[in-house]
Amino acid sequence: MVLPVAGSSTEEILEEIERLRRKRDAVILAHFYQEPAIQDLADFCGDSLALAHEAERTEAKVIVFAGVNFMAETAKILNPSKTVVVPDLNAGCSLADTCPPDQFAAFKKEHPDHVVVTYVNSSAEVKALSDITCTSSNAKKVIASIPENEPILFAPDVNLGRHLAKETGRKMVLWEGVCIVHDIFSEKELLRLKAEHPEAEVLAHPECRESVLRHAHFIGSTTGIIARGVKSEAQVLIIATEPGVLHQLSRKAPHKKLISLPGQDEGCACNVCPHMRLNTIPKLRDCLRDLEPEINLDIDLAKRAFLPIKRMLSLS
Ligand code: 13P
Ligand code: SF4
Repeated sequence: MVLPVAGSSTEEILEEIERLRRKRDAVILAHFYQEPAIQDLADFCGDSLALAHEAERTEAKVIVFAGVNFMAETAKILNPSKTVVVPDLNAGCSLADTCPPDQFAAFKKEHPDHVVVTYVNSSAEVKALSDITCTSSNAKKVIASIPENEPILFAPDVNLGRHLAKETGRKMVLWEGVCIVHDIFSEKELLRLKAEHPEAEVLAHPECRESVLRHAHFIGSTTGIIARGVKSEAQVLIIATEPGVLHQLSRKAPHKKLISLPGQDEGCACNVCPHMRLNTIPKLRDCLRDLEPEINLDIDLAKRAFLPIKRMLSLS
């Protein structure tokens, strides 16, 4: 639901966005964790990998990135000469915050012969210290591209790292970061829902803990979860990720019962990403109108972060 702001109705704001996006020659990219109204007006909605590819191929002059800062930074690194704006510059990522660049540089020094694989949910500084980045949808492919005899250092998500080490059989040194949303999904709630809906399929994001992942029928990125939910024969789906993905699922599989796994207990809203949800329709209109807040990165840093991202994109 879009809430009107003082002085302008929702329709007026949406009309203004339509007018401004043409005037600015802008493309609006949105992540699946954005509020439904933002997903609906975006030119492209996707997971972090698809959004990076879209940012790489766009010919628009301005990129409006409705997501979190690490995603918008990636778009800027791929398009240094374009204007990249975001609805709210405070939309960070708790997972990226668990990996301060100076501490990561020291950790890397302790493991000198390791190939450094970094999940894109990280700062540009941490990316610049890496050999290659990955997202949850291409992480296995990225790991498979590294020769068997080379040890791997993986950061910052420990849950994704453990899942990858298990799936690929590779030895990996892990940075101990977590996402505040996915790390608190409760196994107890999941078991209660499974008992209530024994026919349900459980679809989980790999940022969840092993105690949740072990009950999942499918583990994958937001795009993967949506695709599996649509394709699956199951009529009841329990979704262990941010509930923004339910918007796409309910459009693509309208007859299925979708259950969003609560974070801690039935009544809490802690499965909602507080960073993603800082973006609103009025703020999106404002950033198109004012061309700020803008993402700007140090040129040398952007150059250093480019290569690990480009290596990943050329693999997928
Ligand atoms: P995806 O790459 O699956 O869209 O995940 C991004 C993210 O931030 C998950 O918390
Ligand atoms: Fe970051 Fe977690 Fe929000 Fe994803 S859900 S953007 S990992 S805080």
